[in-house]
Amino acid sequence: MRDAEVSERLLAWYDAHARVMPWRVAPADRARGVRSDPYRVWLSEVMLQQTTVAAVVAYFNRFVARWPRVQDLAAAADGDVMAEWAGLGYYARARNLLACARAVVREHGGSFPDTVEGLLTLPGVGPYTAAAVAAIAYERPAVVVDGNVERVMARLFAVEEPLPVSKPALVGYAGRLTPVVRPGDYAQAVMDLGATICSPRNPACGICPLIEGCAAQRAGIAAELPRKLAKPEKPERRGRVWIGTHRGQVLVERRQGKGLLGGMLGFVGDGWDGAGGDAPFAAEWSVLGEVKHTFTHFHLYLTVMHAEGPANPERGEFVALNPDDLPTVMRKAYDLASSAKTLR
Ligand code: ADE
Repeated sequence: MRDAEVSERLLAWYDAHARVMPWRVAPADRARGVRSDPYRVWLSEVMLQQTTVAAVVAYFNRFVARWPRVQDLAAAADGDVMAEWAGLGYYARARNLLACARAVVREHGGSFPDTVEGLLTLPGVGPYTAAAVAAIAYERPAVVVDGNVERVMARLFAVEEPLPVSKPALVGYAGRLTPVVRPGDYAQAVMDLGATICSPRNPACGICPLIEGCAAQRAGIAAELPRKLAKPEKPERRGRVWIGTHRGQVLVERRQGKGLLGGMLGFVGDGWDGAGGDAPFAAEWSVLGEVKHTFTHFHLYLTVMHAEGPANPERGEFVALNPDDLPTVMRKAYDLASSAKTLR
């Protein structure tokens, strides 16, 4: 199949089957001249990294209801944005999100740059996000490559070399196929194909618009691609959190810095590095149980402690806690304490 035929077939398939998403301009509307809002495209693409469309939709809708324009987000308080992001994970993205919104307002007059190079100068905007925003919001023929695109390319061209070694070759193929007409719709078409038909485990090759051009399907190895080098096993870490309560309020502190969970609200912990650490106040602490949470680089087993505290603890602050503001690991600890009836 010629390169141009691949993109033509994908666009025709997208015209009929594009998924509906709150940040997306449907292909029929785009054909009538409706433009995407770069703010919404950027926000959705940042949220979609490492996260599925299904998980992102509710967050996206809450963000744009509360902060409809980039100026609104730039003016938001850090803690409010971190609280709205709670549960999405990879919290550096939320810190960068705010830094980026503020840079767009302060340095670009409130308009996102309209080229890949310009977008790459923004905080937290890497090659994927820059290409996606340039293509989807500004119709630039930028080469958009996420995990879905890698899989589609690996199969179309039967690339048997494993990821990440094969990444440059896959980017090369993606570049070859990217058309100058409708590059935004095309980028979303490949991602939709990868998320629906050309899925990781059981690709639905029988209904794929590219079946005649797919080398892996012809060789009978589509479901095996892309191969991936074995990842090292994640180490296990152990730690403790102390959930203090006082007159219906709950003891929390905001984690400092740019590291893991930086900027997020949480319970006082011992650092989870085996070094131990002190409880936020002296008391008869009871053990409520253990929660497990997996981060990118390790599994964490967290022992959850509880005690009723004094008004003035040595660390943290008693607040009327909204558990929705907690990152997932802390939410698990909260839910454990809640089911142990220590929080009411
Ligand atoms: N995954 C990330 N961004 C996407 C988009 N714009 N459309 C479909 N899937 C996506």
